[in-house]
This record gives sequence, structure tokens and C-alpha cells, in this order.
Amino acid sequence: MADDLLITNASELVTLKGPRRARAKAEMSQLSIIRDGAVAISGGAIVAVGKTKSVLKEHDASGIERIDASGKVVMPGFVDPHTHLVYAGSREFELEMKAKGKGYLEILKEGGGILRTVRDTRAASPHELFRQSARRLESMISHGSTTIEAKSGYGLDKRTELRILETVCKLGDDYPADVVPTFMGAHAVPEESAGNGDAYIDFVCSEVLPEVSKRRLAAFCDVFCEKGVFTVGQSRKVLTAAKALGMRLKVHADEFQPSGGAELAAEMGAISAEHLVKPSDDGIMAMAGKDVVGVLLPGTPYSSLSKDYADGRRLIDLGVPVALGTDLNPNCWNESMQFTISLACHKMRMAPAEAITASTVNAAAALGLEKRIGSLEVGKRADAVVLDIATHAQLPYRFGTNLCSVVVKDGKVVWEKEPF
Ligand code: NIG
Ligand code: FE
Repeated sequence: MADDLLITNASELVTLKGPRRARAKAEMSQLSIIRDGAVAISGGAIVAVGKTKSVLKEHDASGIERIDASGKVVMPGFVDPHTHLVYAGSREFELEMKAKGKGYLEILKEGGGILRTVRDTRAASPHELFRQSARRLESMISHGSTTIEAKSGYGLDKRTELRILETVCKLGDDYPADVVPTFMGAHAVPEESAGNGDAYIDFVCSEVLPEVSKRRLAAFCDVFCEKGVFTVGQSRKVLTAAKALGMRLKVHADEFQPSGGAELAAEMGAISAEHLVKPSDDGIMAMAGKDVVGVLLPGTPYSSLSKDYADGRRLIDLGVPVALGTDLNPNCWNESMQFTISLACHKMRMAPAEAITASTVNAAAALGLEKRIGSLEVGKRADAVVLDIATHAQLPYRFGTNLCSVVVKDGKVVWEKEPF
């Protein structure tokens, strides 16, 4: 049998073999590690997983590209299930304002915040928007992300929202990563609709969503359900319209205060609720009862200089299947799932194994892709990373450097660390 690629001799092959659904509670600690492990890949899919000796016995290695992963960890490529990848400009000036104690509203008044990025994004040419977003995507791939969700929401008018989603689709076509588009027209009320959130929601539902659906520009719809942004009623309206068009649902829920977002996600049958820094107990139990994936984003409080992180430990213990994402956006310019995993263990009381499950198979489940990616099992796509560490427990422990030595997407080496 001719194989495309063999990865052998991994000190730990972290397979995450298990049920093809989001993992909850103690399942999140089970990584199914094979010591001295190997993976054989053919046609972009995994065809064998096991001890190096037994994989080599069945798969002739002669003439086949081979990666020797001696002394290294091999695991599934990271799945980043929550990003705002496509925007123009940057907002580094806000960091000093935050350090001086300025709040969100003051920053907004002084020309920062979401609406600043909306202005920059509307003004950018399609080429410039693509170029700036592509630089970020390249960096994410080099840090081991092989599937990346990307939301719209910095256009807030029909033309720019559609342009962002077109850009997301083009990035997926041009780069070796699956880029999954989510429509999030209800990310903020734009300046021209200030004080009239209801009218903006009606516009999103009647003018933009149908076009997104007709042109198949996004399979998911998200909404920022939060006191002071969109109410539960407004959010329900957007989600109901999206559901009627056959889209799957996500909710930015309870980021700053309990706002009914977790409850709404469960009520609407959403695939995930995201942020969850301040969910109510009822909201958490409703999510656990409906297997709504909780996507936690520790980069956001980090970049916002906030002490309030989602309580990953408690959410896991109460039965919510937890995933992790970067939340890459101009407030939180975090391109690395490795850093996100480290933050989850340092700030959200998650164990290294739980954070790895949350960044692979559970993150895949937050995108409805758990049967295709997220674990190293026969039949799944061959998306993998070779990390320059001898044990997975070093992944959150060593932060601030890129631990990837090779990134494999669909069975092809797409990025490699240059040796000295
Ligand atoms: O997910 N929470 C809502 N929106 C973004 C931040 C947007 C911005 O500040 O540009 C987020 O963190
Ligand atoms: Fe977000």
C-alpha cells in the first residue's frame, strides 16, 4: 500500500481516540496516548495509528516521505473555533489607555473600540483586507492551527459584511487551513443606527441574512447577546431568522455579566455559547443538559487587563463540554492556540489534558466537525502538529515561544521550523 506520509517514533502520540462527539467531564482528561507512536497517511487521511514498530510492519516506509518525531509530541492540529480574523487596522494605542484605567466607554469616546475597527474595515479595499488578514492566518498556521473559524462583524453594513465573508472564503481557498465562516452582523450597533438597535436587528434579519444564506457565505450565525449590546429578545430574533434559513447557531454569551446568553443558546439549540465569563447557574445547567459546547477565550481578559476569566474548572465539573479559542480580534491580537492553552491552565484552573481536548476534538465539535477532525484516528483527515516537547504536559508549561516543529494539513507538510 502506498502512503503519502509517515510520522514515526513520537515520544507521545496524543491520539484523543474516543467517542466522535464533544467530550465532557472526566472524558476531557483522556488523551489516549501511544508512546513511541506512529501515524500513516494516505490521500490526506489517516490510515494507521499505533506503535512505530507495528505501523512500520504493515506500511512499507521505502520511498515515502517520513517525519522522524523522536523526542517529540505528535497531536491533532489545533482547531481554533472562535476568531474575528478579517478586519483592517489595529488598536495598539488602547493598551496604554487600559493600563491607565480607562474603561470601554472612554476608549470608545476617544476613537477606539469595535466602531473604530468598523471604520477602518469599511475603508479598506478588498485586496488590503485580504492581505492584512492573510498575514494573521499565516501566523496561525505556523503556530499549529489547521482549522480556523472566522466571524464577520466589523462591517455592520451589507456591502462590508458580505465582503468580509467573501474574504474568509478566499482565505480558505488560498491557504492550507480550513477556514469556517460565521456571519455575525449583530456584533454591535453601527454608528448610523446609534440608539436604534431594533431597527438594525430588523435590517440584519431582512436584508443581510437572506443574502448570506442565498450565496452560501456562512454556515453559522453568531450574535453578541450582552446587557448593553443586544438583548435576549433581539438576539433571539436574529437566531430564529438564521435557523429558519438552515444555519447553525452560536452565541457570544455572558462575557461581562449574566445576560441570559447561556440560557438562550440552550433554548435555541445552538451548537456553542462563547466567552461565558459570567454565566448564571441556570444557564450553565441548561447548556450541560443540551450538550451546548462552551467555547472559552482566555486571551480576551488577558488583553483587556481584566482579572475575570471564565471558570473552566467549574464548567467542566458541571458537565459542559469545554472548548478553547483565541478570539483573535483587534482588541485581542492572539494568533496562538498554544498561548491560549497556557492561559487556560494558568488562569482557568484547567488541567493540561483538558486544555488539549478543548483545543482539538471539542473545538471541532463547536464547529460540527468532530467526525472529520480533532483526533488522530483511522478515517479522519490527517491534520497534525509535531511539537518540540517530550511530553504533552509541557505544552501549557512552556509559553511565549512557538513549540511547533512541523505542521501537517490534509497529509501535507505545510510549515516547518527552520533549523539553525
Ligand atoms: O469577541 N465580544 C465581542 N467582540 C469581540 C471584541 C471586539 C473588539 O473589541 O473589537 C470579542 O472579544
Ligand atoms: Fe469574539
